[in-house]
Amino acid sequence: MKFFVDTAETAEIQELAATGLLDGVTTNPSLIAKSGRDFKEVIAEICKITDGDVSAEVAATDYDGMMKEALELVKIADNVVIKLPLTLDGLKACKALTEKGHKTNVTLCFSANQALLAAKAGATYVSPFIGRLDDINVDGMELIREIRVIFDNYGFDTQILAASIRTPNHVKDCALVGADVATIPPATLKALVKHPLTDKGLESFLADWAKTGQKIV
Ligand code: E4P
Repeated sequence: MKFFVDTAETAEIQELAATGLLDGVTTNPSLIAKSGRDFKEVIAEICKITDGDVSAEVAATDYDGMMKEALELVKIADNVVIKLPLTLDGLKACKALTEKGHKTNVTLCFSANQALLAAKAGATYVSPFIGRLDDINVDGMELIREIRVIFDNYGFDTQILAASIRTPNHVKDCALVGADVATIPPATLKALVKHPLTDKGLESFLADWAKTGQKIV
């Protein structure tokens, strides 16, 4: 499973990219607003930090507007992926951009039928939002499971990009049910490495090592 980070904060992306564990980045209009920075400038900077796919979302809601914005955004860098809302106009734009050879991420997916439409439109990625479904008492992970079955039934190439991830358990469950990618907030991504027994074990190994008085280099 690939790990994307869900943020527009370049310092955090830089830090995670340096670990070698980062496969790409997703942003959305809310994350751009939170960064307080110019959209195209921040996407350009992210695309220099990672050569993985970087999702940049259109703000237009009509087909012509989406196409105009998308064709401007793809000029920023080769690894820009156009993020489009799961609407009829978004799907139409997805199909057209795919035919032009651009990568797409169809976002705000909340049902298996919506994911099926995104795959039929040739999306590179479809983003089911797990956390927002959990928030309304619907099992978000069940949606990932259903989409996996549907895509496998028909051999769709569209990758399942599990989004709106809130906890390390979401990441584990995504891996268990076969999501292709998880886009994870920086703090949750960093939390994956933590285990109290790792910290405790390391502390006791280091204490015992100190008693030997030895140095490796
Ligand atoms: C995905 O591409 C979205 O940017 C993101 O995962 C949304 O997460 P949220 O529901 O925590 O805002």
